Amino acid sequence: MIMKPRVFVSRVIPEVGLKRIKDHCEVEVWNDPLPPPYAVLRQKVAGCEGLVALLTDKIDSALMDVTPRLKVVSNYAVGFNNVDIAAATERGICVGNTPGVLTDATADMAFCLLIAAARRVVEGHQYTLAGKWKTWEPLGHLGQDLAGKTLGIVGMGRIGYAMAQRCHAGWEMTILYHDVYKSEKAERDLAAKQVDLDTLLRESDFISVHTDLNEKTRHMFAAEQFKKMKRTAVFINSARGPLVDQKALYEALKSGTIFAAGLDVTDPEPPALDDPLLKLPNVVIAPHIASATVGTRNAMAEICADNLIAGLTGQKLPAWVNPEVEARRRK
Ligand code: DGY
Repeated sequence: MIMKPRVFVSRVIPEVGLKRIKDHCEVEVWNDPLPPPYAVLRQKVAGCEGLVALLTDKIDSALMDVTPRLKVVSNYAVGFNNVDIAAATERGICVGNTPGVLTDATADMAFCLLIAAARRVVEGHQYTLAGKWKTWEPLGHLGQDLAGKTLGIVGMGRIGYAMAQRCHAGWEMTILYHDVYKSEKAERDLAAKQVDLDTLLRESDFISVHTDLNEKTRHMFAAEQFKKMKRTAVFINSARGPLVDQKALYEALKSGTIFAAGLDVTDPEPPALDDPLLKLPNVVIAPHIASATVGTRNAMAEICADNLIAGLTGQKLPAWVNPEVEARRRK
């Protein structure tokens, strides 16, 4: 009898991916809606060859030290800041992620936050619910125009490009971007201009963050950066919460240094209920739902399953974060 590889799946993911995994592996799925505590995760993965992890699971070297059989970590996310990639590579553990399929959904959410924050939609909704709407107010609820404004994209990858495309095509916005790489495509198709961060902060009406989180980008938006923005600026973060010094963002919003913010991510997640940020009228906060559409989450589950199975069977992962592991496998 052929033994199936043992796999731990740290949360229920869409059936389309789960079924594919179950067909190939002996699977334990963590059924709780909350993530397994770290100590439990370590224990669960200890005898496994494969792990399907979420962005809420910390996959560090200490965990890898107690999982000697582990061949692959398939992260159910495009971001992988929860995984110590260097430690995985050193141990020959493949790491997969889910790029591409969540680009549109995430860009849609970034745009949704932009327009909601600029036009004070949530504040207006609360005003209505509170029975404060008495009449049409010529000077009430004034927000910011979108058409013809300047959008600054920080991180012109797939999602940054998709956000810029929406704003350029729909609202004729001028696109500035800051990235270590030049985006020929954005420059050609959207007339985007690559600029240093200070220029982007000073000249943009809307600033949308799409960069990855690492030690260099942690808190790249702090008091100094908010001070450089226009007082009418709207700041959008749909990437990772720790890219922003949240206390500094709070001060900037409270003092009117910037106009508003739209966040799909916070630091920590969820924010504490007594976090003063939650009391501000000029911030819209969604609970990290940018990829939360049925089609997108299904597609993520499929890639996630394919990455896992490829890693278990010694194939190339369809979306491989650390392909350098392949050279190690050959040795
Ligand atoms: C990701 O994939 O990194 C998102 O944050 C969640 O889909």
